[in-house]
Amino acid sequence: MFRNHTCGELRLSDAGKKVTLAGWVQRSRKMGGMTFVDLRDRYGITQLVFNEEINKELCERANKLGREFVIQVVGEVSERSNKNKNIPTGDIEIIVSDLNLLNSALTPPFTIEENSDGGDDLRMKYRYLDLRRECVRKNLELRHRMTMEVRRYLDQKGFLEVETPMLIGSTPEGARDFVVPSRMNPGQFYALPQSPQTLKQLLMVSGFDRYFQIVKCFRDEDLRADRQPEFTQIDCEMSFVEQEDIIETFEGMAKHLFKELRGVELNEPFQRMSWSDAMKYYGSDKPDTRFGMKFVELMDIMKGHGFSVFDNAKYIGGICADGAATYTRKQLDQLTDFVKRPQIGAQGMVYARVEADGNVKSSVDKFYTQEVLQKMKEAFGAKPGDLILILSGDDTMKCRKQLCELRLEMGRQLGLRDKNKFSCLWVVDFPMFEWSEEEGRLMAMHHPFTHPKDEDIALLDTDPAAVRADAYDMVVNGVEVGGGSIRIHDPKLQAKMFEILGFTAEKAEEQFGFLMNAFKYGAPPHGGLAYGLDRWVSLFAGLDSIRDCIAFPKNNSGRDVMLDAPAAIEQKQLDELNLIVDIKEQ
Ligand code: AMO
Repeated sequence: MFRNHTCGELRLSDAGKKVTLAGWVQRSRKMGGMTFVDLRDRYGITQLVFNEEINKELCERANKLGREFVIQVVGEVSERSNKNKNIPTGDIEIIVSDLNLLNSALTPPFTIEENSDGGDDLRMKYRYLDLRRECVRKNLELRHRMTMEVRRYLDQKGFLEVETPMLIGSTPEGARDFVVPSRMNPGQFYALPQSPQTLKQLLMVSGFDRYFQIVKCFRDEDLRADRQPEFTQIDCEMSFVEQEDIIETFEGMAKHLFKELRGVELNEPFQRMSWSDAMKYYGSDKPDTRFGMKFVELMDIMKGHGFSVFDNAKYIGGICADGAATYTRKQLDQLTDFVKRPQIGAQGMVYARVEADGNVKSSVDKFYTQEVLQKMKEAFGAKPGDLILILSGDDTMKCRKQLCELRLEMGRQLGLRDKNKFSCLWVVDFPMFEWSEEEGRLMAMHHPFTHPKDEDIALLDTDPAAVRADAYDMVVNGVEVGGGSIRIHDPKLQAKMFEILGFTAEKAEEQFGFLMNAFKYGAPPHGGLAYGLDRWVSLFAGLDSIRDCIAFPKNNSGRDVMLDAPAAIEQKQLDELNLIVDIKEQ
């Protein structure tokens, strides 16, 4: 037997036991005639002691052990005189009587410790070493527990886990596909699924009325902290349901996960907000509701007083930061620079402080009487000591997005975005379509299979842009952790949707004929949702990027620097696939 205990297991109650342990040398130090080695495995760290007076030869061998050498030791568990309260095994040590070197190791390129000295790139290149660090390993353990809890919850609710293929045709989720050439079908390509959307709908036609799958999805899109080109969905679909049934089932799942994984009991129903309110009050379809600072629109109050910036604006709106009137001129200038950054693009920022006597002092005092400023103060419900920040512009949507960035920044600066506080929200009543400048046509906001709200169906003919969908997203702390919709199950309505989206009947048939055909054979009313597993885990673990909860993630350029992928392939492979590579100059 290689080991009969792990390095995280032994306690004072085990004193006197003869044990065999195996693991990696975290570090070793020599003190007089004694050598101490920290032995590490997945479960923890145990201190080993080699005593020169008891066995000189053994101690000499221990002195030669380098960092990350793999060893096996036999010894007796003994109470430590110098206890280490920081680790669970800190009350004991092993007095070693036998040492077996299982493997030596090169010196690792960075320290395998909580605060590693390795930069991001280096740690990614040697990810297998990075994963030895407790702080990284813990995220994968949490991820494992999360998938176990997901399966437990859904199994209890009668969901069946069904696998769907990875080599499929294109699914229209709005991102670019990753494609795979087919050797046996020259010139033809599979697409890796952006999600199993159409397949899960086909499973509903087959009668699997409660489906789920923890499934890899692939999207060739620009990467950010919460986006990876391959990521994992908890993908679900249900038949004979309405929006309310789905919300209830998956709110229940979210509460279950919060309880089991974070020990947080959420007893109240999650807040609901329409998409249009989310945009109006937070400038985002995924508002961070851990804090207030809702937008207040000021067109009526601030326009027409001779301040040309506001007089010419189509939107004037602001936020009120409680107690932030102490902000210095320098801090306010920094905030102005922040909103003027090209990524945000505001022209400038107006501020107003509510002073102790209730008077308002603003950066545009020469244009406004105290009476107007008081009206503004009242619109915010501002108190003495509060700071009001205002943006304006000629494009309402753009301006709201800029104000959203400012609000989030103020939330950050004022410490209101606490990672241990959770605020869960359903955003509902999404618009069915959005206008795409790039494509010059209406596009489905969720996907083309989303059901319009019954009361808006008549608008499909007259004002499609005003049609709302039976679509919903779950947002936690400003992160979209999931989304879904009720689907169209009527082939006629589906055909109409394709028509509005600009598909010819032939094109719709070519791309989605399989689904529309299936719907002719008795499709039940159905709907579903997909949660982003990586986003949930990083939320629970308090991570800044989903990369840290993925064993082998890609970097921001979509590269796996450890495997050095993507890479060119051999000419022979290209020939077999009938492919010619012709790289155009950028
Ligand atoms: P959607 O595109 O909203 O819906 O995706 C569902 C959830 O998946 C997560 N997610 C991502 N996570 C990491 N990296 C990415 N690149 C990424 N893209 C999406 C998000 C998101 O909320 N088929 C529909 C679901 C349905 O209608 O049932 C779908 O894929 O957390």
